[in-house]
Amino acid sequence: MKTVKVGVLGIGNVATGTYKTLQLNREKIQKSTGVDIVISKILNRRPDVDRGIDVDPGVYVQDVNLILDDPEIDIVVELIGGIEPATEYMAKALANGKHVVTANKAALAVNGKMLQNLAMENKVMLRFEASVGGGIPVINAITTALRSNDFDEILGIVNGTTNYILTQMTDNGSDYDSVLKDAQEKGFAERDPSGDVEGHDVANKLSVLMSLVFGADIPPSDIPTQGITSVSKVDINYATQFGCKIKLIAAARKVGDTVECEVQPTLIPLTHPIASVNNEFNAIFITGNAVDDVMFYGKGAGPLPTGSAVMGDIIDIACAIDKGSAFDMQPVLRYDSELTFAGEGVNQYYVRLSVEDKPGILGKISSTFGNFGISIESMMQPKHSEIVPLLFIIHETKRSVLDDALADLVANNYVKSVDSVMKVVK
Ligand code: HSE
Repeated sequence: MKTVKVGVLGIGNVATGTYKTLQLNREKIQKSTGVDIVISKILNRRPDVDRGIDVDPGVYVQDVNLILDDPEIDIVVELIGGIEPATEYMAKALANGKHVVTANKAALAVNGKMLQNLAMENKVMLRFEASVGGGIPVINAITTALRSNDFDEILGIVNGTTNYILTQMTDNGSDYDSVLKDAQEKGFAERDPSGDVEGHDVANKLSVLMSLVFGADIPPSDIPTQGITSVSKVDINYATQFGCKIKLIAAARKVGDTVECEVQPTLIPLTHPIASVNNEFNAIFITGNAVDDVMFYGKGAGPLPTGSAVMGDIIDIACAIDKGSAFDMQPVLRYDSELTFAGEGVNQYYVRLSVEDKPGILGKISSTFGNFGISIESMMQPKHSEIVPLLFIIHETKRSVLDDALADLVANNYVKSVDSVMKVVK
């Protein structure tokens, strides 16, 4: 049986999940592929820490070059995360003629084009199924079974940590801080959870998805991004009264020759399929001109689900090496479309204001909205004391126009404060 040797960079949640997946199903993988996959080296700079896996200590190395320069290693699996030094390590591995598997959306979103080109030049594969949607094989599906389609729209819940937090706050009234801690303990969160809760992880994943789905080169730094740190239980409760849930949504759509996109906490009606995606589950909803609406659903975070996706890529490459056809099969980050980036588009919004309960205020607010060309879809005034909340769902408008209207309301003292603004998807 052919042996394919793998070197793993990093020993965090995803690396241990990958190791465990291989251990769990080694015989089945050997039987179905005829290849023996061996993790021969793991970069572990702190071998004293117990990782909960049964590894021969001789497998651990502390010098990355012992993996990148090892002529026996066919596949380098980069699981250290972050942009650097992960990009440098992947580039060196590719230049050394090694196939690379990564779960690193941050590095791909910023350096994907360079790494892809390097893989092509060196006739090796760069695979990254685990970078978006954890265990969901969405990248494979988009680049193989669905590749005959032209796509119009992406709507995704692509961060397990934030979806877990929002679900627990919605269903159990839990506190943000305690649920975040819980998510970290379960191994969903990034090493620095601010990347999750501030939406940057989602922006990285949306950037990768836009390359695969639209061929668009939109770096994460260009994507208007808002995380969930400002989402309160108050808004979650009011959203329920509008028949909606609040989810952190990655959205992108083609409008003419442009792409509009944003990452924002969003009110989703309970009737939308994505509203029922809870906890660490992710879903990616895309619309193709032949296939129509498709939704991918599964665990988007956690050691084993993500390890499953990493192992899938390793097995594909190992089988290709065995057949001598390694360079043929790879999902390719495309940057080949003429689409231009149009920023955040025109959306419906939920607005929560605090106002004094006195005659004429509501009239002033609706006239101001009217003056800015903003049309109100629905309005709610829950019972309260002297300062009352006013809730609006407004029809499609540009966020900048809405922000100007809200600033005008505050400047004229018609409202005491603008407490919340969130996108609404219908
Ligand atoms: N931190 C990510 C999440 C996991 O919570 O979804 C991997 O991307």
